[in-house]
Amino acid sequence: MELETGETMEPPPMPERAPRSVSGLVTLRVDGEDLTVPAGTTVAAAMVNRSHQSPGGPLGSRRLGLRRSVRGELRGPLCGMGICFECRATVDGHPHVRTCMTTCRDGMVVLTDA
Ligand code: FES
Repeated sequence: MELETGETMEPPPMPERAPRSVSGLVTLRVDGEDLTVPAGTTVAAAMVNRSHQSPGGPLGSRRLGLRRSVRGELRGPLCGMGICFECRATVDGHPHVRTCMTTCRDGMVVLTDA
């Protein structure tokens, strides 16, 4: 596009897409257990699915909890859009990562406090 000043204005570059696995699945390690999910799944969504698929559902053996509050209460995803910070976990050694804003990658290591 040419401006009145004679300068040209290029459109912004397209953002790079996250690499996709060939199988369409990625495997991450959550608290020492492998978890395979469809590519593009957020860590928070993977954790919700994991808890629902465990015996007893979300209140069963794999309770949905990514961290504990200062009073020891289990905390998990609330807003799902990066506002509340309730879904924080340690991801690849980085503490306090908002898992609802983080896409699962092959080999990712997630540690929860739950
Ligand atoms: S669920 Fe609210 S910031 Fe992640």
